[in-house]
Amino acid sequence: SSACALDTKVAVELPVSPCGHSLSAIPGPKSWPLVGSLIELLLKGGLKRQHEALIDYHKKFGKIFRMKLGSFESVHIGAPCLLEALYRKEGRYPQRLEIKPWKAYRDLRDEAYGLVILEGKDWQRVRSAFQQKLMKPTEVGKLDGKINQVMADFIDRIGVASDNNGRILDLYCELNKWSFETICLVLYDKRFGLLQKNVNEEALKFITAIKTMMSTFGKMMVTPVELHKSLNTKTWQDHTDAWDRIFSTAKMYIDKRLNRHAGEPANDFLCDIYQRSHLTKKELYAATTELQIGGVETTANGLLWAVFNLSRNPCAQGKLLQEIKDVVPVNQVPTTELIKKMPYLKACLKESMRRLSPSVPFTSRTLDTETVLGDYVLPKGTVLMINSHAMGSNEEYFDDGKQFKPERWLQQNHTINPFTHVPFGIGKRMCIGRRLAELQLQLALCWIIREFEIVPTDNDPVEAIHSGTLVPNRELPVAFIRR
Ligand code: HEM
Repeated sequence: SSACALDTKVAVELPVSPCGHSLSAIPGPKSWPLVGSLIELLLKGGLKRQHEALIDYHKKFGKIFRMKLGSFESVHIGAPCLLEALYRKEGRYPQRLEIKPWKAYRDLRDEAYGLVILEGKDWQRVRSAFQQKLMKPTEVGKLDGKINQVMADFIDRIGVASDNNGRILDLYCELNKWSFETICLVLYDKRFGLLQKNVNEEALKFITAIKTMMSTFGKMMVTPVELHKSLNTKTWQDHTDAWDRIFSTAKMYIDKRLNRHAGEPANDFLCDIYQRSHLTKKELYAATTELQIGGVETTANGLLWAVFNLSRNPCAQGKLLQEIKDVVPVNQVPTTELIKKMPYLKACLKESMRRLSPSVPFTSRTLDTETVLGDYVLPKGTVLMINSHAMGSNEEYFDDGKQFKPERWLQQNHTINPFTHVPFGIGKRMCIGRRLAELQLQLALCWIIREFEIVPTDNDPVEAIHSGTLVPNRELPVAFIRR
């Protein structure tokens, strides 16, 4: 790593290194005409196993490598020193890879872009409208009441949905309902009743539309969306129909909320943002909708893996239970204030997002200017993939990295480089829902661990497969046993 520190220094001191190597000098898997390395990737287990293939490539080629899939070329970085160098050089408006299908829909219907797809000054303006309410700990902390309201129902739901042995048929689906219900209560101030026995029709249609939108856009990321649009393919039709429903539903709830609090907007989460920021209605609709979409599966996924990791590590679970008992008085619900006194809880979540299971294995940046990284000069327009999963599983950065050890985060003088752990991304464009997600996960674990012992129902391996997020390859072998 000393060589790497040197690289960073050189990179910082020389804006454009005259002797830096060009993009083509970066090592990487063999690239064939037209297909690039696609066939090799398919042979390594396909897109579902791409996170593992990328770890192999980092092992083989080192901290930085270059890969071409079809005509799409990207540079992968999986080392804290390179990430830090990138962070230090970040411009004012960092950019991720474009999501063209989302943009195509908005352009078609003359709707605005939200935070996920906005760029430049407009991105910054909308980002700062939401930044304080979502990223300032004292502001986010005020949402504990809403999170707890849904959590109380979720605890009942575990009881209802589990069989005599404490097993839940589709745990991931239940967790998605929980995170959907929570984020909608925060954004629309509305309960959808997803955790009740008879879910209402309207809520189901909303969820189905989001699922359809998510399952149709992937295809249009690898084949040109313009083509789908001009041929009016089924994928394009389904995608637009789904967005139509998502937007009309979201608009209705946002309007209702704004009207309800028109008298004293400053007291309401969304009205306050709207009033202070001078966003247009359209911008508010788009930003809110994208927050909702960004907040459902990611958070559910985070809780799913935390539950799994605790089931396999009864010692850690025992310590966590003890901390909860020590801090949260019997018959009281956990709160933001109480969470502050629970370092082990935070360490468990951190460790769960590192090992095996960061919900989002990598994020991306499109360079808006020529940038020197390590030994290389990367031209403007280069797509960088930032691989937090590869860093989290690298034994070079984490001793005994295969083990679930929350303690590693609590050791007084631990030497873990903060840039090795970036499950929420990095810099100005990092996840804006981070604090809200963390609070939801912390409160959820308090409720669940206090009420249930999570036990493994078998000890066979559970592997992660990639489908946007990292999901388990089979139903989780866990059971919830009431304490
Ligand atoms: C962006 C992860 C929860 C909304 C991101 C990014 C990651 C991420 C890795 C990309 C950051 C980057 O490029 O540097 C997660 C994880 C979550 C989570 C692991 C849960 C455990 C949420 C929640 C919300 C949300 C609850 C909504 C309140 C967003 C939005 C962006 C984003 C809007 C785009 C931000 C921008 O470009 O300005 N998230 N997220 N996420 N996330 Fe999350």
